[in-house]
Amino acid sequence: MAQVNALPQLGKASVKEVVAALTPEEKVQLVIGMGFYPSGFPEGLLPPGNPGDRQVPEKVAGAAGRTHAVPRLGIPSLTLSDGPAGVRIDPIRGGDSTKTYYATAFPVATLLASSWDTELVRKTGVAFGEEVRDFGIDVLLAPGMNIHRNPLGGRNFEYYSEDPVVTGTIAAALVNGVESNGVGTSIKHFAVNNQEFNRMQLNSKVSERALREIYLKGFQIAVKQAQPWTVMSSYNLVNGTYTSQSPDLLNTLLRQEWGFKGLVMTDWYGGKNPVAQLKAGNDLLMPGTYAQTQAILAALKEGTLSAQELDLNVTRVLNMVLLSPTFKGVKYSSQPNLKQHAAVARAAAADGMVLLENKAKTLPLATSQKVAAFGNTSYNLIAGGTGSGDVNKAYVVSIAQGLTSAGFTVAEPLSNLYAQYLKAEKAKLPKTKGLLDPAPIIAEMLLEATVLQQQAQQADVALLTIGRSAGEGGDRKVEDDFTLTATEQALLKQVATAFHAQKKKVVVVLNVGGVTEVASWRQQADAILLAWQPGQEGGHAIADILRGSVTPSGKLATTFPMTYQDVPYASSFPGKELVTTAAGGNPMMGRPSENTYEEGIYVGYRYYNTFQVKPAYEFGYGLSYTTFAFGPLKLSATSLTDKLTATLSVTNNGPVAGKEVVQLYVGAPAGKLDKPESELKAFAKTALLKPGQSQTLTFTLTAADLASFNTATSAWVTDAGTYHVKVGRSCLDIKQTASFKVAKEQVTEKSRKLLAPQEQFVEMKAARK
Ligand code: BGC
Repeated sequence: MAQVNALPQLGKASVKEVVAALTPEEKVQLVIGMGFYPSGFPEGLLPPGNPGDRQVPEKVAGAAGRTHAVPRLGIPSLTLSDGPAGVRIDPIRGGDSTKTYYATAFPVATLLASSWDTELVRKTGVAFGEEVRDFGIDVLLAPGMNIHRNPLGGRNFEYYSEDPVVTGTIAAALVNGVESNGVGTSIKHFAVNNQEFNRMQLNSKVSERALREIYLKGFQIAVKQAQPWTVMSSYNLVNGTYTSQSPDLLNTLLRQEWGFKGLVMTDWYGGKNPVAQLKAGNDLLMPGTYAQTQAILAALKEGTLSAQELDLNVTRVLNMVLLSPTFKGVKYSSQPNLKQHAAVARAAAADGMVLLENKAKTLPLATSQKVAAFGNTSYNLIAGGTGSGDVNKAYVVSIAQGLTSAGFTVAEPLSNLYAQYLKAEKAKLPKTKGLLDPAPIIAEMLLEATVLQQQAQQADVALLTIGRSAGEGGDRKVEDDFTLTATEQALLKQVATAFHAQKKKVVVVLNVGGVTEVASWRQQADAILLAWQPGQEGGHAIADILRGSVTPSGKLATTFPMTYQDVPYASSFPGKELVTTAAGGNPMMGRPSENTYEEGIYVGYRYYNTFQVKPAYEFGYGLSYTTFAFGPLKLSATSLTDKLTATLSVTNNGPVAGKEVVQLYVGAPAGKLDKPESELKAFAKTALLKPGQSQTLTFTLTAADLASFNTATSAWVTDAGTYHVKVGRSCLDIKQTASFKVAKEQVTEKSRKLLAPQEQFVEMKAARK
């Protein structure tokens, strides 16, 4: 008895004492999760966890992972759950539907970023984190923050933007909001996981400069501004090394250079070599397999993994446990305030929708109007994407419902026709085989001419919704996904012809998770609202914009190109499979593949602007129901050594209250390094300004903000010369400019050669004078 009491207990004794009291077997358990047995997966497809773990009752059914407990030393098991748009757990436990565990489906990440509203994102994070805590979960496996490199990226909806400053700033706001509830987050997938093709064995070949300036920068900003509890390494390799096995990435960059204090976990079954992962600073292997346990125990015995190395990983796991609500004994209700959070989700959804077209003030619509709603997704809204980014929500408000509760009349014979069609088509859908095999979306139907004519005569306005869904495990296709299907094109033509013949307007709503082709059909629409995948309250939020109770204020955080072929290196996406002798194997794990990032730093608007390729809708673009006057722009100094401020006032000089996103771009002098035409350096969203009201905004620019990464010297360098500050409503709609000088070249940070490509490849260069 006396001996038991003498055992150090976590929280009472120091972490060091607790680590010293752990057996090697217990240490290994702590760095390996408790396995993963999701419903719907064929038995045997996923590698098994440690014997016996599966039998330990789950605390939260449907959570993605658990860590091991060591009760004799006071170490509890933690619960980890997806994902980026809401807590993803099973809504029903043990077949008992008298009690449900639905979570709020918030708008997808791409919509949140399109709000450019850090305060709104933080508040959304606060509500989101309350659900994490109320369900008894310790760490949320979100936010996702990979870069929208190519519109076909299957998980782009889970990510924020093509730009690292938007990505990092929005992610930090979400992390701060979620973690204010005393729960953790895991920013993911670190790094360069911008596509799904053979994701577990894909080598991304990227220059050091593009890595630093584009693919790692957002993570760096999030670490600096929010210091998340954890980081999730990605599945892929970067320049020949699995990210989860890269000491350069996880120790040197993330920890030493950026000052990350937390824990790194793998993505589920990510990487190849568990020992290399632990040594590289990837502390927790998720979801955890028996093979990993054996490999690590063997390495300890052989001395290829030292006790000190493992102790460092274990220490980081215990530090996370110490922070957790489970360790602190926080009581949880399993009944979050879904009503309150629905209101948060609705406000966030409306804030991030982007008005792309509004000819002759088609919108807002008077609620006295009768709306003929076309398109399946007018009745069956797609709230979010699939895979681990999905959420089990109690309901989804359709656009038709949203319109009705906002006071509109939704034309009935048409809505009945769609109800019948959708019922019949849903019955035909194949049964889904689980998370990575979602049901396909239902194809559109064409309507008979008499139906259209009747609608065009009786209704006041046509609303046509186009829907898209994508998710984990696959990328999108150009045909019938990036572009409209033949039936969608024909339907749009039918509707536009019939309604325009009656001098009535056509409003198109895009219910999509990523960028789609618009240029070939947009002239047929009088207004286009990019509603994204707006979460469970989407129908209400869309109606809020359509009737003008909310003035649209979202802006694109990712470019809409004219055609897919305009995307740099479009035809080499998603890369190629490497010739391999490895036959068979687990289909989940994919095949060895590679993708070379030949465009270098010229991603998104950095490419379109520098190479003067006109997009359909540029980065930062979005219309409003009101107008804003900008300026004048005042700089605190004409030359910069350390930092300066840029100040301007924005005035709502239009007819209704609204918010504006003010974007500050900087064009750098062409020094030794190639430079994009300009880059976003700061942004802010105004408060809701009444007509005539102004707000003064101040942005700070530091020498480090202006620096580019010089590969030859492994240093961030701010060139000498004249810098042009451009403030506007999009990257092409610049309202005010000013300039300042940097007298002499400055090295703002010195690094060393890290993550270098295995062999040289030719990167795109701007032919700027
Ligand atoms: C996904 C992660 C997710 C994890 C746990 C993986 O397949 O890539 O984003 O957090 O599963 O569900």
